[in-house]
Amino acid sequence: MNHETDFVIIGSGVAGLRAAVELSSRGRVLILTKSRADESNTEYAQGGVAVAMSDEDQIGLHYQDTIRAGDGLCNGAAVRLLVEEGPARILELIEWGTQFDREGAKLSFTREAAHSRRRVLHAKGDATGREINRTLLKKVRSLPEVTLVPYAFALRLEISGDRCEGVSYLTRGEDGTHEVGAGAVLLATGGIGATYRDTTNPDIATGDGHALAFRAGAALADMEFVQFHPTALKLATAPRFLLSEAMRGEGGKLRNAEGDIFMSRYHHLAELAPRDVVSRAIFSEASRTGSDVVYLDLTHLPSGFVEQRFPGIYATCMKFGLDIARQPIPVFPAAHYMMGGVLTDMHGRTTVRGLFAAGEVACTGVHGANRLASNSLLEGLVYGARAGCAMAASPRKAYTPRFTDLCSVAWEQNETDSAPPEQELRQTMSEFVGIVRHEQGLREAADRFAATPFGRGQDQSAQEVNNKLINARLVTGAALYRLESRGAHYRSDYPHRNDSQWKKRLVACYDLPGRRVRYSTAEIGGTRET
Ligand code: FAD
Ligand code: SIN
Repeated sequence: MNHETDFVIIGSGVAGLRAAVELSSRGRVLILTKSRADESNTEYAQGGVAVAMSDEDQIGLHYQDTIRAGDGLCNGAAVRLLVEEGPARILELIEWGTQFDREGAKLSFTREAAHSRRRVLHAKGDATGREINRTLLKKVRSLPEVTLVPYAFALRLEISGDRCEGVSYLTRGEDGTHEVGAGAVLLATGGIGATYRDTTNPDIATGDGHALAFRAGAALADMEFVQFHPTALKLATAPRFLLSEAMRGEGGKLRNAEGDIFMSRYHHLAELAPRDVVSRAIFSEASRTGSDVVYLDLTHLPSGFVEQRFPGIYATCMKFGLDIARQPIPVFPAAHYMMGGVLTDMHGRTTVRGLFAAGEVACTGVHGANRLASNSLLEGLVYGARAGCAMAASPRKAYTPRFTDLCSVAWEQNETDSAPPEQELRQTMSEFVGIVRHEQGLREAADRFAATPFGRGQDQSAQEVNNKLINARLVTGAALYRLESRGAHYRSDYPHRNDSQWKKRLVACYDLPGRRVRYSTAEIGGTRET
């Protein structure tokens, strides 16, 4: 190793930064982040952070809503910790300077889909993530034990025996690879949205942490569960910019191409049904009416309300010539959030000693098959802090759940000098591994990905495409094996939920010497720790 520290954190979103605060009193902390310090999914979070703190709310109701949205696959114990520890994490953020919106002196809560109460705190209307990031970055920069290195790209986890001992990384403008040894390493690398052609995520969401963990032999779970956000802007001239669910929470309606309001035909909660339901309803209304969009309509809301409540979204849409207070907005679902990821216990421990994961890259089972809106920032805070605590207390302890073997398949790993064809890969994911899936399409995608060689290049962009290919294979493989429909995973050839066979996690683990992937199942919460 070139150098040593006590703890390495990969990623500077909400989970990584919150973990850094926790670890700062326990040793030297090095945060590696591959872009600017404030470039992350966290930075773009709009709607807010869900927490049971209003007068009309209860922790138990937040628990119930999360479990219901998760469609039978949430780990109840993980959800319990999320909702119970959430308020303390939010109060702490406020103490560190986060300015959530208020009505007079009281915190202001908005409503989002599948929440039975107004429960979502927001900042500057629709800039919640930026405000939380700003606070956490300021806090971390005030801690002398923490060093944050921007434009530092984690290339590989250094594994010795069954232990993670450090990280190899590249830095901008310097040749060669750096190696840092550490007592414990945290993956806080966010999601895989950029594996799809249509996504709300920034370009950095290339699923590096999922791929690093996979290559290191860690178990990944629930990879078939990719959440599509129902309302991403769909204009030929604009990126797939997110139109927050809070817009429906404040009264926005969905209309099909014929101008009809349709959601109540699909679910009794209409526009506020769980996300997977709304996304599929939009998909089906668009196909039925021969259109490639539906419309989010806010034109009936009081004059001035939209501009004042959603200033960032209003200004962005205006840049593309759309006045959303006066014109219906063309929308269609886009890949938004990865429920699955590196399997962890409730302390962020993975199945590899010394390796931890928190935030979107991790799978504690807290979101089940479909994440409840605005639970992700809260997860980053609660589980980032928990992982930090465990890294300091027991850095070498691993998570050892019981698995039941399902099958093992060869992992083709041909290599070429050129990078894998990225646009084709993203196109295939959107076409065959999207909102509605079926065996034929999934097999087509799996065959294409198996035939796609990895690039030999060791630079960041080549490695990011390789990482997308790993994740594309894993999502497709898991989607092929889960023979039912549940939450965000919908199979038109298996349209029903099948609890008797599939109320369990699907786990993938790379067997390096054998060049095979072992698929197994695990109980949702029935696990033991060593
Ligand atoms: P991120 O915030 O994505 O941070 C990942 C970090 O890892 C980044 O700093 C990245 O640069 C770094 N990184 C990745 N790979 C490497 C590598 N190889 N080497 C070094 N660094 C690396 N959730 C909510 O709860 N409420 C919302 O209102 C909300 N709105 C959203 C709006 C949008 C447009 C999007 C995209 C997501 C939204 N989400 C929301 C989801 C939520 O923002 C994310 O799930 C959450 O912020 C993830 O936090 P994280 O810390 O796990 O990862
Ligand atoms: C949104 O504002 O709609 C995003 C909320 C989330 O993804 O949790």
